Amino acid sequence: MTLPRVYVCRRLPDRGMDLLRGGADVRVWDQNEVPPPRDVLLREASQAFGLVSLLTDRIDDELLSQAPKLRVVANYAVGYDNIDVDAATRRGVVATNTPDVLTETTADLAWALLMAAARRVVEADAFTRSGKWRSWQPELLLGQDVHGRTLGLVGLGRIGAAVARRAQGFGMRVLYHDVVRREDLEGKLGIQFRPLESVLVESDFVSLHTPLTPQTRHLINADRLRSMKPTAVLVNTSRGPVIDEAALYEALKNGTIWAAGLDVFEREPLATDSPLLTLPNLIALPHVASASFETRSRMAEMAAANCLAVLAGRAPANPINPGVVTRLGLREGA
Ligand code: GLV
Ligand code: GLV
Repeated sequence: MTLPRVYVCRRLPDRGMDLLRGGADVRVWDQNEVPPPRDVLLREASQAFGLVSLLTDRIDDELLSQAPKLRVVANYAVGYDNIDVDAATRRGVVATNTPDVLTETTADLAWALLMAAARRVVEADAFTRSGKWRSWQPELLLGQDVHGRTLGLVGLGRIGAAVARRAQGFGMRVLYHDVVRREDLEGKLGIQFRPLESVLVESDFVSLHTPLTPQTRHLINADRLRSMKPTAVLVNTSRGPVIDEAALYEALKNGTIWAAGLDVFEREPLATDSPLLTLPNLIALPHVASASFETRSRMAEMAAANCLAVLAGRAPANPINPGVVTRLGLREGA
């Protein structure tokens, strides 16, 4: 029996690769540090029944129009702004993502950034290594208290809610804004709904958990940064373009806000000559929020299972465009 060709845009953790190899003729882009160049991606997609894509791979109408055999794009990420979902839907290609498995791991990292920025952990480590540590000092590296303060969440999906749960342990007041008010969660998580402007004005820490859409691009702009407290810390583990980075640079430089912890950037990788990297009150991580051994392995398994399900004529567990699944008559476990 010939197995359907699947192109995998980067070698995934073994659990995913092994699963894929059991049900597909797998080809893999073999350079770990960079995505396949566009021409390679287009060529491979043109022969493939399934694609396992990363957030670095643009799956747009041009690609889909040249991939006549393609049945499924299984994204190895929860976010899917790299995929033109409408185009996939029009062409009857199922798109899937990896929700849930990375929720807690991503919330952990949002907290790591929040605490590191509040207490200047990265700056303090550099200080220790620099040989500048002469003695204990009353006002050395003072930061912001986290406990008992107000946390503002912009976006209350799975990850936003997981961040809120952790705040209970720090005795924080938690405010949130989302396009959908989640009264069902308010009592359980002890959180209060506010208009976006009030979340920004009232919070000591603001953490972003929205998907990237035309509505959320540059949601955090110069005006909104100005509305925040001068002691505020901004954390972003969602997508870089949700913040206007030029405006954030100015806000951090001028003391409009106090610090920021970012895992995501408008352009990734962040250029080493980015002005952001001149700021001592900014922590910059290379998009690693879901990067734990266990979670990346589970994401790989999930992406592989989603891909193989569609190729076997079954409904995948995590469709982004479930209408296509219905239209194709795919059923779970069938
Ligand atoms: C990573 O950013 C993801 O969307 O999973
Ligand atoms: C992502 O999983 C979210 O809903 O926040």
